[in-house]
Amino acid sequence: MTVAAPRPTNIVVLTGAGISAESGIATFRGPGGLGEGHRVDDERRAALATVAPNAAHRALAALDAAWPGDLLLVTQNVDDLHERAGSHRLVHMHGELRSALCALCGVRSERSGALPPAAPCPNCGEDALRPDIVFFGEMPYQMGRIEAAIEACDLFVSIGTSGAVYPAAGFIRLASAVGAATLELNLDRSEGSGFFDESRLGPAGELVPAWVADVLAG
Ligand code: APR
Repeated sequence: MTVAAPRPTNIVVLTGAGISAESGIATFRGPGGLGEGHRVDDERRAALATVAPNAAHRALAALDAAWPGDLLLVTQNVDDLHERAGSHRLVHMHGELRSALCALCGVRSERSGALPPAAPCPNCGEDALRPDIVFFGEMPYQMGRIEAAIEACDLFVSIGTSGAVYPAAGFIRLASAVGAATLELNLDRSEGSGFFDESRLGPAGELVPAWVADVLAG
């Protein structure tokens, strides 16, 4: 007899490159992936105009609009497909392609075209603009907010990530340590699969809408 899991109240969802694969954005480590540390920001920024959110992005946006409890969507992705689908309770822990950051004054500015090295900052005028992306060895954004949300959640869901890169790969253990239920939705088994209460394998475009429908039905 399977005991139905209690209805969650506070949810944290982690997404990775796999959720954007069905929109035509290559992953990093999967077949045909970009490979680790591949500097692609100008290419990827330009490609954003040619791709659109898929059913998985849209389902998470529907969850955001309807969920009465706390919800935080933490993405490792630098594309803007979650926003374009309508998600608002969202953190880009690795930064955003559509943003530039001044290395001197710290002000962010919107960016759609290529970003030449040391471009002038629209705020302070210094030639110090850089991509607003967290590169290997740099500290991801909003870690305090993310960890606080995981410590307060009772359901942690991971979608389309290989679990190969920390600190995101360690979130599952924090969630388990605070007693949250944990669910993985991924095409293949990930490096963290063994830590999840449940892993459902398949394309995000199918698994995520089905999971959202379930959780909203209560
Ligand atoms: N649906 C669900 N999962 C998918 C799909 C799909 N259609 N396609 C691929 N996947 C899964 C793969 O099985 C793999 O586990 O998505 C995962 C993609 O893994 P990676 O390419 O390693 O991407 P990610 O985990 O997001 O990488 C983490 O590494 O290179 C850095 O900063 C970069 O944010 C990135 C971080």
